[in-house]
Amino acid sequence: MGASSPRSPEPVGPLAPRLLFCCGGSLLAVVVLLALPVAWGQCNAPEQLPFARPTELIDEPEFSIGTHLKYECRPGYYGRPFSIICLKNSVWTSAKDKCIRKSCRNPRDPVNGMVHVIKDIQFGSQINYSCTEGHRLIGSSSATCIISGNTVIWDNETPICEKISCGLPPTIDNGDFFSANKEYFHYGSVVTYHCNLGSGGRKLFELVGEPSIYCTSNEDQVGIWSGPAPQCIIPNKCTPPNVENGILVSVNRSLFSLNEVVEFRCQPGFVMKGPRRVQCQALNKWEPELPSCSRVCQPPPDVLHGERTQRDKDIFQPGQEVFYICEPGYDLRGAASLRCTPQGDWSPAAPRCEVKSCDDSLGQLPNGRVLFPRSLQLGAKVDFVCDEGFQLKGSSASYCVLAGMESLWNSSVPVCEQIFCPSPPVIPNGRHTGKPLEVFPFGKAVTYTCDPHPDRGMTFNLIGESTIRCTSDPQGNGVWSSPAPRCGILGHCKAPDHFLFAKLKTQTNASDFPIGTSLKYECRPEYYGRPFSITCLDNLRGVNLHGSYMSAKLLIECKSCKTPPDPVNGMVHVITDIQVGSRINYSCTTG
Ligand SMILES: *[C@@H]1O[C@H](CO)[C@@H](O)[C@H](O)[C@H]1NC(C)=O
Ligand SMILES: *[C@@H]1O[C@H](CO)[C@@H](O)[C@H](O)[C@H]1NC(C)=O
Ligand SMILES: *[C@@H]1O[C@H](CO)[C@@H](O)[C@H](O)[C@H]1NC(C)=O
Repeated sequence: MGASSPRSPEPVGPLAPRLLFCCGGSLLAVVVLLALPVAWGQCNAPEQLPFARPTELIDEPEFSIGTHLKYECRPGYYGRPFSIICLKNSVWTSAKDKCIRKSCRNPRDPVNGMVHVIKDIQFGSQINYSCTEGHRLIGSSSATCIISGNTVIWDNETPICEKISCGLPPTIDNGDFFSANKEYFHYGSVVTYHCNLGSGGRKLFELVGEPSIYCTSNEDQVGIWSGPAPQCIIPNKCTPPNVENGILVSVNRSLFSLNEVVEFRCQPGFVMKGPRRVQCQALNKWEPELPSCSRVCQPPPDVLHGERTQRDKDIFQPGQEVFYICEPGYDLRGAASLRCTPQGDWSPAAPRCEVKSCDDSLGQLPNGRVLFPRSLQLGAKVDFVCDEGFQLKGSSASYCVLAGMESLWNSSVPVCEQIFCPSPPVIPNGRHTGKPLEVFPFGKAVTYTCDPHPDRGMTFNLIGESTIRCTSDPQGNGVWSSPAPRCGILGHCKAPDHFLFAKLKTQTNASDFPIGTSLKYECRPEYYGRPFSITCLDNLRGVNLHGSYMSAKLLIECKSCKTPPDPVNGMVHVITDIQVGSRINYSCTTG
């Protein structure tokens, strides 16, 4: 087939074969091989063999039919070098059984022990060792057949099984023991006790308990005696009864007579279980069974701002439990219940009652800031502040308050709404830069200009601030920074007000009068006075002129007309100024 043979749709790159060899012939490699498309008429790189390795590096992804690949057995295996061949059906010939695992030498049994061959003694296998009863294993209890140089060996030496022995048996008063050996007591040795006899072989003592004990082991490690030694006691006498943490109330003696009664109490911090009084019986027995003194707990600790159950008890038995709760407004930190331990203390540690806190859920305020206090305990206050240009809608603060058993914020996060100004004022004979339907948010400025009226031969001038800015008042409402300017005519006075006391001599319908215009007035019949004039002045050059007449002032002047002497051929000058308190000047006509 050669070059014309169909290739796999995704040509296997040069990295692929190394990848195939990565996994020690594991299942993964097999799966990868199966998953790869196999080109007909070729073999994929063979999978790695655990027992043999190629003699030359295999770094091609595919091999043509008939290719021989040489292998040799890996260390730990033996067999002749062999080849695998790529067959016509794109499969390699089998390498099965070409290499055989080497065997380690036959292991031997330890003295007083055994070797256990678990599977076989070939390369990689494990064997275990054990000792016969009464012996302890020293060394390693298992070995594995491993490679060493060109051969295979056991990785551990045969262990030693050492005889277990016991120490001297316990000695007893008024008695002794028999045994084969008086110094060395190996595993299984038995010693038997007897009581001393009086002169002439008279029996003085009675043996109480098991007469014989033997040497045994603690999990095949340490030699121990099978039980306590018996006692040799005077017949019908009892040795002092022993109760741990107990005190004999009645008199103590080295021996008690038959039927004698003793009474116990417990040491402080302990309570008694069982009878307080016991009686001496035959064979050094006390009846009924001796009591025991067990530890008790003192009342558990009190918790500030908390309460607990079983306040009325002074003494608690091990295992008893108390439960804590906190006052309203406090949270329990720690365990809600403590238990009296057999050691007479409480476990775990007592809880604490901490002032309740609110959660930190108030989070974010868009276009503003949330100002948290250091602690979020009850009473804490969180402030909300809006950024400039935004008005707070809602509560400006929230408090951590108690609601039933919970601590909650008493108001939710407000919103910061953008501040808008009303449309800028419309002025006669002028306009501003704002567009129809435009909105005017905080910070927005508009500039006024006056309309030209070339047709009417008049020039309007802006009086006041030309640019006004949207700002806010203390309540957060949108207001303009200053009143809108006006458009006025420079060098003109407006028509004067109608005077109650005088009337215009020269009739005119004009509404504007150029500077210098004088208007003649004469007093109305009800008033007394000479005719007078008012003049439109330009004595505040450079300042806005608008020619406003103050009639009230003039009224005073006209009344003064009644009072001689009047300024003959005098004039009243009205200063063209809007401000209240404008001055009215008198002057005399020339001459
Ligand atoms: C051999 O010993 C090993 C380790 O001490 C242990 O895990 C294994 O169970 C033993 N095998 C047998 C068959 O006793
Ligand atoms: C009684 O006295 C014996 C010694 O005579 C002593 O060992 C024992 O501890 C005493 N018992 C009590 C409960 O005091
Ligand atoms: C929240 O609590 C504070 C302090 O107790 C109180 O002044 C305020 O009015 C409360 N606010 C609301 C919305 O209840």
